[in-house]
Amino acid sequence: MLTRTDAKARGLADLPPVMNDSLIALIGMVNADPRPDKIDVGVGVFRDGAGNTPILKVIKEAEQRLHDTQVTKAYLGSAGDKRFAELLRPILLGKHADDDRIAGVQTPGGCGALRLGFELLAAANPQARVFVGAPTWPNHPPIIRAVGLSEVEYPYYERGQGAIRFEDMIDALRSGEPGDIALLHGCCHNPTGADLDEEQWRGVRDVVVERGLVPFVDIAYQGFGRGLDEDAYGVRLMLDSCDEMIIAQSCDKNFSVYRDRVGSLWIKTPSPDATATAMGHVFQIAREMWSMPPDHGAASARIVLDDPELRERWLVELTGMRDRINSVRRRIAAADPRLAFIGRQFGMFSMLPLSKEQVLMLRSEHAIYMAESGRFNVVGMSDGQIDRFTAAVIEAMDA
Ligand SMILES: Cc1ncc(COP(=O)(O)O)c(C=O)c1O
Repeated sequence: MLTRTDAKARGLADLPPVMNDSLIALIGMVNADPRPDKIDVGVGVFRDGAGNTPILKVIKEAEQRLHDTQVTKAYLGSAGDKRFAELLRPILLGKHADDDRIAGVQTPGGCGALRLGFELLAAANPQARVFVGAPTWPNHPPIIRAVGLSEVEYPYYERGQGAIRFEDMIDALRSGEPGDIALLHGCCHNPTGADLDEEQWRGVRDVVVERGLVPFVDIAYQGFGRGLDEDAYGVRLMLDSCDEMIIAQSCDKNFSVYRDRVGSLWIKTPSPDATATAMGHVFQIAREMWSMPPDHGAASARIVLDDPELRERWLVELTGMRDRINSVRRRIAAADPRLAFIGRQFGMFSMLPLSKEQVLMLRSEHAIYMAESGRFNVVGMSDGQIDRFTAAVIEAMDA
């Protein structure tokens, strides 16, 4: 017979409310706004001149081929699509592609790669501290906390100046101890758009080597800044000089397959044997978290990369996305000297010199939605919305 106890255990009903991820909350606000001319520059997806996020033509074609030829959906294993990782290897690693101390694995998006990479680092060295730029992508700190590693902030960007705080960044990294981790954005910095130039990358590399830090490069927008090779400069420079390194990569943007969750994790250790052992941990951790990554998106990207004609057309579509980003940047930059810095930055995001009140005013009076920090997606708006957007931003800056 069942008996009830009066002792009160903590349960699901005791959970405190979650502080909503502000970018996710913003999506809800945009959807709830009935004004037909609303502008959503909050969400981080590429939009074309008509304001749509179309499926790339090469992906549509690859999906059709996948549909026609796939004969089973049996498990692939924790490594996912191995050919996908093999094809990605030279695109990301360049001249380091033949280095057998580097191994890569398919992950559920860049987020999956970040989590897996930090889990691995925490397993290897729970005392390691992670140096994180201020500001950074808002999902970095919770992922780092979730694996139990502690964070140290390094100054990265001065909003008023539209400039990188390079000296302060270097000073902060100099306080790192051997084994500490330096989290760096490979290109198209989110949220600021302010990328290290080549000389600055070399300065960061020097301090990373000098202090024995482990570089962890998050590269989610390769091809959206200057070009595939140019955007991988920092990744490859660190590989030139570091024996241990982690790279979290996302294909969700450059193949425009956001919801299909396509990414990869890359690790480098001092020897092929140590890399093989570390990869054993990677597969075990992946097995505990998601068992194996979703197949469809990576299989589609693999079909594109494996076919010279589709690959060539992907490069054309990728260049088209990059060109739009850079041409919208130029248009906004030309509208007011205070916005000129936007023309010198890269990728989908920049931060406007606006206070929280000014951002809220843009929402209420102009139906323009961006993060409270002033971060906005330069290609969140259609071509027809750019003039209204810049006029409203100038009005807000003057208010
Ligand atoms: C800097 C950065 N890293 C990682 C990611 C994660 O990408 P994914 O959607 O592939 O998980 C994003 C996505 O917004 C990002 O901006």
